[in-house]
Amino acid sequence: MGYVVSTANMKGGVGKTTLTVNIATCLAKNHGKRVLVLDLDTQISATLSLMSPMDFAKLRKKRQTFRYLLDQIINPDSKPKYVIQDIIQPNVCNLPGLDLLPGDIDLYDEFLVSEMLHEQAVALGENHFETIWNRFERVLLGKILEPIRQDYDFIILDCAPGYNLLTRSALATSNFYILPAKPEPLSIVGIQLLERRIGQLKESHEQEAEIDIKILGIVFTMSNTNLLTGRYYKQVMYRVNQDFGSEKIFQTQIPVDVNVARAVDSFSPVVVNSPQSSGSKAFSQLTRELLQKL
Ligand SMILES: Nc1ncnc2c1ncn2[C@@H]1O[C@H](COP(=O)(O)OP(=O)(O)O)[C@@H](O)[C@H]1O
Ligand SMILES: [Mg+2]
Repeated sequence: MGYVVSTANMKGGVGKTTLTVNIATCLAKNHGKRVLVLDLDTQISATLSLMSPMDFAKLRKKRQTFRYLLDQIINPDSKPKYVIQDIIQPNVCNLPGLDLLPGDIDLYDEFLVSEMLHEQAVALGENHFETIWNRFERVLLGKILEPIRQDYDFIILDCAPGYNLLTRSALATSNFYILPAKPEPLSIVGIQLLERRIGQLKESHEQEAEIDIKILGIVFTMSNTNLLTGRYYKQVMYRVNQDFGSEKIFQTQIPVDVNVARAVDSFSPVVVNSPQSSGSKAFSQLTRELLQKL
């Protein structure tokens, strides 16, 4: 059985998606792994990093996005029509072994989820709504991924910023999480908040089941080596080292590199697009470090 890994930070714009798609690509391209990327953010950045908006629009029209898998769990009355194998897009960016479960700009309606769970609680005569809710979020993504879990060496879940239902479900079903952070104070607050949330998640579920997620490491992204700012970044990184311990921090850092941001224009990650750029080299190195850690 392969690994399920979430990329998460409470803060947005810290490089979660960029890290997800580039690590996934390196694992498939450089290490021959079978990898699935799942886009859990309604900003669909992971999807649009791996396919063109035109191709995405076609899939959406054919109802071949993650939304429809979620939908049939949230509206259990309707007969299951969609199977995950039909929705997964194989060999995206023409890379054998790199698959994508495309996201959607609409994923689920909080109100419908609450209504469905409330009905379930009433039908079961269960007055612990929280227990029902916890059980739902614990099994949701696991259930969706179950039919294909053994087909992959890595399933990487690109979480939205914040801490929504899908992020909680992703963390509950993952073996590991990677925490990208800019070496800036607010981004570090994002690390602390996520760590706290994961602690609470484990606690709130411990009576029913063990949530066995471990940190794989914090990755410093968009760290600038420029002489002036470089010193400041180093100070912040030093603080994180003190707070979290060096074993929790990846040695490889991802530099600011315009090629990384620009790659989205050509619908494939920088490691495919400009493999010689500094960003690409860092992602390849980081992937090697990740495999070593595992
Ligand atoms: N190493 C980098 N160098 C330059 N730009 C980057 C780098 N990493 C990410 N970016 C850009 O920063 C923005 C935020 O990154 P993204 O991965 O979408 O963050 P998140 O998923 O955490 O919101 C994007 O526009 C992305 O292209
Ligand atoms: Mg993102």
